[in-house]
Amino acid sequence: MITDLPTPQITRRQFLQTTAAAAAAMPILIPVSALGREGSTPPSGRINLGIIGCGGMGRSNLGACAGQADVVVTAACDVWPDRLQQVVNQFKATCKGFHDFRELLQRTDLDGVIIATPPHWHALQAIAACKAGKDIYLQKPMTLHLGESLAVRNAVKKHGVICQVGTQIHASANYRRAVEFIRSGNLGGIGAVRAFNVMNQAPGGVGHSANHLPPQGLDWEMWVGPAPMMPFNPLIVQDAYNHCSWMDFSGGWTPGMAPHITDLPIWALDLGYPTEISSSGGRFVLQDDGDAYDNHEVLWRYPNLTMTWMSSLTNSFGFDFQGDLAPRRRLGIYFHGANGTMLADYDMFKVVPEGDRMKGRETPPQSIPASPGHEREWLDCIKSRQQPSCNPAYHTRVDVPLVLSLLSLKLGRTIRFDPKLEKITGDAEAAKLATPKYRSPWKFPTEYL
Ligand SMILES: NC(=O)c1ccc[n+]([C@@H]2O[C@H](COP(=O)([O-])OP(=O)(O)OC[C@H]3O[C@@H](n4cnc5c(N)ncnc54)[C@H](O)[C@@H]3O)[C@@H](O)[C@H]2O)c1
Repeated sequence: MITDLPTPQITRRQFLQTTAAAAAAMPILIPVSALGREGSTPPSGRINLGIIGCGGMGRSNLGACAGQADVVVTAACDVWPDRLQQVVNQFKATCKGFHDFRELLQRTDLDGVIIATPPHWHALQAIAACKAGKDIYLQKPMTLHLGESLAVRNAVKKHGVICQVGTQIHASANYRRAVEFIRSGNLGGIGAVRAFNVMNQAPGGVGHSANHLPPQGLDWEMWVGPAPMMPFNPLIVQDAYNHCSWMDFSGGWTPGMAPHITDLPIWALDLGYPTEISSSGGRFVLQDDGDAYDNHEVLWRYPNLTMTWMSSLTNSFGFDFQGDLAPRRRLGIYFHGANGTMLADYDMFKVVPEGDRMKGRETPPQSIPASPGHEREWLDCIKSRQQPSCNPAYHTRVDVPLVLSLLSLKLGRTIRFDPKLEKITGDAEAAKLATPKYRSPWKFPTEYL
């Protein structure tokens, strides 16, 4: 279906309802292409897709979707015309460009949107998409604050939209096999989990640049949006790697990487929320224009285990399981069980038994079905109206511990959390700060709490 149609435009969902009603009422003539013969997907099966944030990751998600026979790229939005134009040019037969995401979301012919803006925008734009009835592929980190996390989850539920958070490694065969192994009980009781992401940016970090006027056309006011205003710095706009050096725009490298990594233990051990969150860190070694910590250590207390997180930008040693010693980025999760230790990363997992405690234990059979691909799963779910695996109701269990670790870092003290009430307890200041104050004219949507 060519999507830039004159009004009135209808969504795939409306098309289904209308044609079903019409078919029941009278015989209608439908062209062959509309029936999906000759190898084409019928309009009722096509998904009209938009994108908000046309940087590297958004374009990668869009490419994965646009390669599917049932997707039509209908609309794109970016506040930087150069970025926007790349997508509009690529899909020029069907795609219209927008500067303001609110206008894109008003398009009635749009079924779903990829949101791949910098993290400080995620909650507001996701909730706006929910209100507009659009299904969402929302890049990680889902949010930066407890209030945002719960509000996005609640908005998705309230408006009945389909949402997948962009932790694509969740779709991997390796994570599936690791989950099966953990769940087999072979490791025995697991009392501690250690997760980490380490790399060496020292001492120069992302570098230095004099503040100057934004490039032609880039709307800096809309890029900064609800975050505190800062002078334009060309370094921050490059990509997510660079956003991660600025606290207000990313929360640093913990939300930058941990959503992919702590997802595995939370999935495998079916963890709910932690009850205590302690964290410490600082900017110790890096000397660049950023302001985020270069080292961050977190301790989460769950009812039956503790989990720790280490983010270091000053040293990339991966403990003892990860082969060569050359400096490079390393990440992983150690599961410390009574019978043995598992180290898992994106690509593999290894198990080291405690003596002969794992003797005779067999590798569990495969039980978790293969993923069709993270974006494809979302597209399938748009059609089936079932939530995908990384929907916000699941992903708040990943996001909430991370955003509370940032709050603990900011306040320099342990946060206590009531998992049933989903509230911070015994700390009025922390509870207040958990819901952010946005820069005017943006307002936090308190109606979703
Ligand atoms: N899942 C992954 O493996 C992965 C990898 C990299 C990045 N990411 C995530 O993807 C997101 C984007 O990262 P990136 O590397 O593409 O960043 P980027 O800076 O390259 O792209 C972000 C784009 O959003 C645009 N933008 C900013 N404010 C906007 C607004 N109000 N409306 C519309 N567009 C706006 C920017 O101009 C920019 O083009 C981040 O949340 C990042 O954490 C995920």
